[in-house]
Amino acid sequence: AKPIDELIVQDKGLVSREIFVDEEIFKQELSRVFARAWLFVAHEDQIAKNGDYVVSKMGTDTVIVTRDMEGEVHVLLNTCTHRGMRLCRNDMGNARTFSCPYHGWSYSMDGRIVETPGDLAGVPGHATYYHGELDKKDWGLVRAPRVKVYKRTVWASWDPDAPEFDDYLGDMKQYLDYALDGRDGSPGNNEMIGGILKWRVPSNWKFAPENFIGDNYHDISHRSVDLVGINPSGGTGRRDDEPEDATTIGFPKLGHGVIGEMPYQKEPESAGWAANPEVSEWYRKCHDARVERFGDEHRVSMTVGTIFPNMSFHGRQPRTIAVFHPISPTEMEMWRIFLVDRDAPDAVKDMARHYHLSYSGPGGLTESDDMENWSYATDSSRGEISRSIYFNYEMGLGHARVVPHLEGAVENGEFTEENARIFYRRWAEFMKAGSWDELFPGKGPGPGGSRGAAES
Ligand code: FES
Repeated sequence: AKPIDELIVQDKGLVSREIFVDEEIFKQELSRVFARAWLFVAHEDQIAKNGDYVVSKMGTDTVIVTRDMEGEVHVLLNTCTHRGMRLCRNDMGNARTFSCPYHGWSYSMDGRIVETPGDLAGVPGHATYYHGELDKKDWGLVRAPRVKVYKRTVWASWDPDAPEFDDYLGDMKQYLDYALDGRDGSPGNNEMIGGILKWRVPSNWKFAPENFIGDNYHDISHRSVDLVGINPSGGTGRRDDEPEDATTIGFPKLGHGVIGEMPYQKEPESAGWAANPEVSEWYRKCHDARVERFGDEHRVSMTVGTIFPNMSFHGRQPRTIAVFHPISPTEMEMWRIFLVDRDAPDAVKDMARHYHLSYSGPGGLTESDDMENWSYATDSSRGEISRSIYFNYEMGLGHARVVPHLEGAVENGEFTEENARIFYRRWAEFMKAGSWDELFPGKGPGPGGSRGAAES
């Protein structure tokens, strides 16, 4: 493959199609991006009780996200250390011990039995066939050294030197908060509606976070959504009826970005919930409470955003988290979680569930449109000739303006490719950097992998 600086030509806004189809680049991404960055792994509703676990993914590795018997959260590689059998083949459940079906090694989640939950507890024939010589302490499950629980979401990194999660987010945190806080601004007031949706898409994974980081320009793709009247601006039939203050806000040093609104906009009313007085009254009250809580200055509002590398979210209706797991250069697995305020009335939860499913997910109208674009763009970039040319990202190049009240942020109007350029610039930095010192100058590493529990 070409050098990274020839794949991402930043001053011209060019991105090589190779990075969407090339096997070698994909392998490098797994080690340089996915084995270092903070990755979203679970929602706390999936592991509500002690002993609960959910199987998740970090890059192409599967992990068990589990709450031990003392309530601490761990992220453990889902492979037996003896001969590699997939230890847990369920999607989720509750277990004090994971026993390997191959030869029976068992790993305990109970700190009264082992020193650290996830350690090897039992080995059949330890005293006899192994002559008591196998040191069980050395053969516990491999654990993510960095785990963070943030407003009911669980994140992890394989890199002990990764910066603090808060530093990794920077001022992008305000936008993530917008999705994770209650509609009235109450901190961390969210719960999952139902389960998680998972499906495979024949697309390179990067198309999705690139789309959600700030591609307003693809509105034409969703014409059908406008026509059926479920778009967030109220189903008026045209998505360009979005508020005039919509703008892309990006964080060039971090790789994150959103389609934001300055100033804060009232939660829009879809055709569905405006028609239900109980629902619209609840949203109106939440809006008033939010205005009271935050005042007029610098209130944050947004529609969609991306946290580098592979987590995107909708901040308002539909309020969701999406994760894009790499499978191969030309295939990803998409996951979606839908959120609603924990204390919302049943009518609101019911409305949100219907709205979310019609909007996002494998059967959702907008997601279907997007998946088609990404899949065909991937496929039509694999050819010998097509892979050798570049995508054009020059819209708005050189027109970014500093956002004074957000550290390190720039904005570049509603229609621009600024945030996509920011995403690929950060991707290139990860692909080139040998250490977190280069990726995060001046911040220094985080606490360096305290063994065991999640960071508070
Ligand atoms: Fe798990 Fe042998 S592979 S006990």
